[in-house]
Amino acid sequence: CYGYAMNAKFNSRIRLDHLLSQATDLSRKQAKIEIRKKRVSLQGEVVRDPSLLVDSNASIEWQGELIGLPAPLYLMMHKPAGLVCARSDRTQATVMDLLPQDVAERVHIVGRLDKDTTGLLLLTDDGVWSHRVSAPRLGCSKGYIADLAEDLVAGAEQHFAEGMLLRNEQKMTRPAQLERLTSRQVRVVLHEGRYHQVRRMFAALGNRVTALHRQSVGGLELDAQLQPGQWRELSEAEIAAAAAPGN
Ligand code: URA
Repeated sequence: CYGYAMNAKFNSRIRLDHLLSQATDLSRKQAKIEIRKKRVSLQGEVVRDPSLLVDSNASIEWQGELIGLPAPLYLMMHKPAGLVCARSDRTQATVMDLLPQDVAERVHIVGRLDKDTTGLLLLTDDGVWSHRVSAPRLGCSKGYIADLAEDLVAGAEQHFAEGMLLRNEQKMTRPAQLERLTSRQVRVVLHEGRYHQVRRMFAALGNRVTALHRQSVGGLELDAQLQPGQWRELSEAEIAAAAAPGN
């Protein structure tokens, strides 16, 4: 997994007319007209092309006033059990219900957790960052503590390290680390995120996960001060750490 520049906003580019309409109450069409009428400038220069790609954190001038998009949001949440990771759900409470409405409307979930899983959940409106953190190809690690219904079989560490073939899948899992904490509690580190992956890996060993908690994403750990259901913004160092390999 690649490192992430400290100023994450430099990584995404956006059309000028899109930026202008997002940063003001102009429609996209009105924004285009304003640009063509030479009312918009970038770094002191009038720009006339609505399709010009600019950094999403660029400050532009419109009618002599500096405008720009609000800084991107990066949040960590201590996900409690019982909430689904979805923007909305017809019957069940979602993690978005824990956020103020204006925040919930902006952010998306980075790497979902099952309804019964607890722990570190990330949310952002920076699509480039969420891709870096969650894309399997980039391999950011995810660390979990799992409680098991049965004693762990001998040799389980090797199965995790060598990769396993899960039910209804053709591709082996990526090498993962398994550390025995007690006979029924383990720490697991994955470098991908398939559907119900931890639960299915233990099912393949004839076991069952009774509780699952995510502790880390990349080099970022869940803040021990956050109680289940609480959330906070990430610091610049944490934004970079989540997109770093971790262990
Ligand atoms: N693996 C699972 O089985 N569930 C999760 O929520 C995360 C990883």
